[in-house]
Amino acid sequence: MYDYLIVGSGLFGAVFAHEMKQAGKSCLVLERRPHVGGNVYCEEKEGIHIHTYGAHIFHTSDKKVWNYVNQFVEFNNYVNSPVANYKGELYNLPFNMNTFAKMWGIVTPAEAAAKIAAQREAAGITEPKNLEEQAISLIGTDIYTKLIKGYTEKQWGRSCTDLPPFIIKRLPVRYTFDNNYFNDRYQGIPMGGYNVLIEGLLDGIEVRTGVDFLKDRNAYAAMAKTIVYTGPIDEYFGYQLGRLEYRGLRFETKRLEEENHQGVAVMNYTDRETPYTRIIEHKHFEFGTQPVTYVTKEYPADWQPGEEAYYPVNNEQNQALYAQYQKLAAGETGVLFGGRLAEYKYYDMDDVIASALSAVGGIL
Ligand code: FDA
Repeated sequence: MYDYLIVGSGLFGAVFAHEMKQAGKSCLVLERRPHVGGNVYCEEKEGIHIHTYGAHIFHTSDKKVWNYVNQFVEFNNYVNSPVANYKGELYNLPFNMNTFAKMWGIVTPAEAAAKIAAQREAAGITEPKNLEEQAISLIGTDIYTKLIKGYTEKQWGRSCTDLPPFIIKRLPVRYTFDNNYFNDRYQGIPMGGYNVLIEGLLDGIEVRTGVDFLKDRNAYAAMAKTIVYTGPIDEYFGYQLGRLEYRGLRFETKRLEEENHQGVAVMNYTDRETPYTRIIEHKHFEFGTQPVTYVTKEYPADWQPGEEAYYPVNNEQNQALYAQYQKLAAGETGVLFGGRLAEYKYYDMDDVIASALSAVGGIL
């Protein structure tokens, strides 16, 4: 009899298992994919770590979490500085002085601020009725048209005039020449890839891959005192109240016989016509010098039940349904629900690690 049966070997499950092992508890981890690591898993090809489930950049302001992950792997000094490609015109992101200088040929922060203020005023929007009006009222027409509109419409599969204004609450604008996308204190990519982190966490813990807990749940449940479930909450309850919705993604990865394809890890395609939103060139996450490269085009997609669940659609209807599932979950004795799928929540990696540590802290 194990103390814990942990369903899912993503960051939540792996951190939970590691901490419980440290506390002297016995754990069995079940993972239905053929590999461990959940969405941070990378496939290695010719020395390049391919982010199989989407680009993952570790960033945090939580020193405890930063020190925690650094116990298992050293992080490199990668700083995410994506470039936007609008019909062949290149702009630095996030919106900063480099972006404004390229867009308007201005030189000083005051000139940039005046340009944005003039465009906001000219639009004359006082009460934004949709996402388009909201974005223009925050940042003006040029940046909205070239850098926000097409990208957002592709991401959501809907026109910005049909999307609610609250999706964009604020738009970070920097009046400095700083292309660092994140504001966090710590940032980087694990040296040797994310698998090193996961393997460190799961070291010495019994793991069975290719095993779906839900296919034989009674037999597995009988093997442990407590279950930690990190899969989709609606699936756990057999979708008895209905399905929670997700936004899907489709990845198209190619090997290219060239050393450097786009000169940056992340290039966003911000026009409406290009069907993908981003091209990821994986080697640049780790300053790779291989003679070949691997690039992934990322296509946002409508999600169908049974497909890989990427982003939860946290609208009112889904949140209400999730709240009902939460009530069912509260009635399940001996089961702890955690992680992005069980909590139907977008978690960054640092947040999911903090959440797993706090779940352990609440027990020990
Ligand atoms: P995760 O999904 O990783 O793990 C759950 C595991 O449970 C899966 O391996 C699954 O197969 C398994 N499972 C489910 N049901 C099961 C069952 N019945 N039986 C057995 N196993 C089962 N964060 C960040 O900080 N920086 C970034 O750049 C990004 N980028 C990013 C891109 C994209 C496209 C997405 C969708 C997400 C990000 N993230 C991110 C977020 C990051 O992926 C997230 O924080 C972690 O993957 C969450 O870890 P979990 O353990 O909660 O879930």
